[in-house]
Amino acid sequence: MELPGAASERGSWGTRLGFILAAVGSAVGLGNMWRFSYVAAEGGGAAFVLLYLLFVTLVGIPVMTSELIIGRMTQVSPIKAIRQLGGASWAPLGWLFVAAGFGLLSYYSVIAGWTMRFATDAMRGAIPQDTATYFNQVGTNLPAIVTHVIFMAITVFIVGRGVKKGLERTALILMPMLFLLLVGLAIWSATLSGGGPGYAYYLKPRLNELLDTAIITDAAGQAFFSLSLGMGAIMTYASYLKSKRNLGREAVTIAATDFGVAFVAGLVVFPIIFHFGLGEAIGLGGVLNTDNTVGTLFITIPPALQSIGSFGNVVIAAFFVMLFFAALTSAISLLEVVVASVIDNWHWPRAGAAVTFGILITLAGLPSALNLNFLTFADRLFGAFFLMLGGLLTAILVGYRALPEADRELAQGLQHPGLRRAWSTAIRYFVPPVLLVVLSFGIKPLWNAFRALIGG
Ligand code: TRP
Repeated sequence: MELPGAASERGSWGTRLGFILAAVGSAVGLGNMWRFSYVAAEGGGAAFVLLYLLFVTLVGIPVMTSELIIGRMTQVSPIKAIRQLGGASWAPLGWLFVAAGFGLLSYYSVIAGWTMRFATDAMRGAIPQDTATYFNQVGTNLPAIVTHVIFMAITVFIVGRGVKKGLERTALILMPMLFLLLVGLAIWSATLSGGGPGYAYYLKPRLNELLDTAIITDAAGQAFFSLSLGMGAIMTYASYLKSKRNLGREAVTIAATDFGVAFVAGLVVFPIIFHFGLGEAIGLGGVLNTDNTVGTLFITIPPALQSIGSFGNVVIAAFFVMLFFAALTSAISLLEVVVASVIDNWHWPRAGAAVTFGILITLAGLPSALNLNFLTFADRLFGAFFLMLGGLLTAILVGYRALPEADRELAQGLQHPGLRRAWSTAIRYFVPPVLLVVLSFGIKPLWNAFRALIGG
């Protein structure tokens, strides 16, 4: 996607479609396929999916609307925007955004590296039958470090040089293709025998799991991760919005598209898991932090498609190439938040900021490349906990310190007073308590995972 305007001269989106595509480009990424399938597999399938849909609708859309409002209202980068609204005492929230982006990208790039590895291996016909073992070989240590470094180098190059235009056009073509390929794969998945239990696992929730606090926390975290919420990314994009568009409608469009992609990905993966008996290989229904669950997508897609013959490798390669581009557009938005903040606050040149922080983030990603349990832990901490905390504080800031201005901003495109009241009620009385509860559920598993990691 393209950010219109460098730090020096702020531009604005030309068309509604331009803005929507950029926001969707940030939202649709590894979260929709890699993360969604692994967290759903871990969280009992259907219970997770239902809770996820509830969080997207009742928490994600109000928070996204708030980020859109803050961005368009202030027309500055997140750290300045937060300070403008809340005063100096709120400044740490801006730095929390940057820390989340930094930590998130460090391991996101490792996974994006896997997509590069699987794409090139599929082209060479070099992915073996036993993908679980293979995933453990190429998903960690030197092979993972190599692809991680290459992916970060590409991301830094694009953010530093501002060659986003060409990439935007590429993504523009590849994203719809990825979606079509997913739909095609979902139809193919439906023809597999023995997929029935897969659909049941994915679509028929069991009541006791709906009340499972770990699954509730996972579903909430996934909503923030997949919608790119809680760290100022959507806010940054909205700061380039000029016209008086209906921000509520934009939030619904972005969220619905993002959910659609993830949901179809699940329709592909779950019948495959059951048809090919891969449940054990990925540690289905296992405890948190099982090494292989995090590889669900990479372990299930290749053997399934190889079963259709040599053409299968072409489809596998196409799938991972498109996933790579989806990851790239998301990674750019992550690095952009860090780089834009550094430029804004410390007045560094863009290229210097991109290279310096690119190297630091690459180094920070090494533990994730060496140890899948570390990667999973980083994902819980930066990819869920930090984002929900950022979302909670954003809701409090908007709901309790800047509501009249925010409502006036929203009213410029959304005249319906009932809908605006629904938003302000959600942001004041629903989102903060729900996120507080969910965050408190999340502390213990996070702590346990941390202890397990350091061997304590
Ligand atoms: N949403 C992206 C995905 O699903 C990841 C991402 C990009 C992100 N930018 C973000 C997540 C900002 C949180 C915040 O892959």
